[in-house]
Amino acid sequence: MSKTAGGFQSCLHYMFDYETPKTLVIPNLWVGFVFRFIQFLVVLYVVGYVCVVQKAYQETDSVVSSVTTKVKGFAFTNTSGTDPRFWDVADYVIPSQGDNSFFVLTNMVITPHQTQSRCPELPNPSSTCVDDCDCIEGYNNPRGNGIQTGLCENYSTTVQTCEVISWCPLEIDTTLPEHALLAAAENFTVLIKNSITYPKFNFHKRNILSHVNSSYLKRCEFNRATDPDCPIFRLKHIVSEAGEEFEDMAVKGGIVGIMIDWSCDLDWWARKCYPKYSFRRLDSKHPVNNVAPGYNFRFAKYYKTQDGEETRTLIKAYGIRFNVVVFGTAGKFGIVPTIVNLGAALSFLSLVPMVADWFLLTCVRKRDLYSRHKVTYLNEDAVTESVSMGTSYGTQ
Ligand SMILES: *[C@@H]1O[C@H](CO)[C@@H](O)[C@H](O)[C@H]1NC(C)=O
Repeated sequence: MSKTAGGFQSCLHYMFDYETPKTLVIPNLWVGFVFRFIQFLVVLYVVGYVCVVQKAYQETDSVVSSVTTKVKGFAFTNTSGTDPRFWDVADYVIPSQGDNSFFVLTNMVITPHQTQSRCPELPNPSSTCVDDCDCIEGYNNPRGNGIQTGLCENYSTTVQTCEVISWCPLEIDTTLPEHALLAAAENFTVLIKNSITYPKFNFHKRNILSHVNSSYLKRCEFNRATDPDCPIFRLKHIVSEAGEEFEDMAVKGGIVGIMIDWSCDLDWWARKCYPKYSFRRLDSKHPVNNVAPGYNFRFAKYYKTQDGEETRTLIKAYGIRFNVVVFGTAGKFGIVPTIVNLGAALSFLSLVPMVADWFLLTCVRKRDLYSRHKVTYLNEDAVTESVSMGTSYGTQ
């Protein structure tokens, strides 16, 4: 046999050697225990976590929903500095029709009888002046209140500021009441109507459940312990479940989330699907540096006086915005996710012998013996020799 032929032959060997697993039974209690224990862990994971907890055999769909809200309640304010006033929904809910959220006015700075005219700017370092030369005609400071006319006027007996063209008199928003004007808003109630759909499963439901009748709806109020199905919420209750005091929050305003969780198991053996309510404050309450807290915005009401002049009442409104957040996923048995997860479980089981082998070859006292027997390279020429070696080994 030539040298090249020998090389060729060994190359053929590498390509066409057939490897077949040979079963080696090891009667070692430890290895057997480790193998069974890991198998048990895998089965526990598949049954306990994947099937029971994660419900991985289910197809899922996420919720599609619509929300409408209706606030009810009255208030009467009679504080010094303002006229006595009666408030109803049309006054304190802004805008009257919102999208998944509603705003309840609780405190405000009112600037009545503003007209388009000229008045001295509020005093601040960039607006104070000594004479007309300090004011530039036409200069417009975006953080100021109007366009300068170039004149320096008396703001008070001691301070002079540049005159501006603006809605005058200017708003002085440092006069915000320390106790919320509409503190009575804590007793207002809101009816939340929420319809949901899981389109994939053609499942529809609303948060006014089928056993709720109209006479119950007229008198009930949501309470986790006694009336968990009532869709009417007292604003104070919402804010206190969010971990806040209504009186405190009403002064500077804020944003509160009303979360409705519609997570459902739609399989016939577990067909219960009820909304679960929870509440939390959504704007940050105590930032490290509490600048610009709360929530406010401005709006105005416009009038014409008898002689045709336009005037307006400017309102800087502070209040609580309630955002209704609807979320959830529904699951229902599906054959595809079941097969996929079954496959994953089986492939995990097939990894177990590898771990047991590793344990066998590294941690067991007789590992040398086991590793000698575990891998055998069959050399046909020396087969008799190896067999005799095996027997002599056995008799040792
Ligand atoms: C809200 O109602 C409770 C009792 O129903 C009452 O004690 C409380 O004074 C009311 N709050 C306001 C601000 O009117």
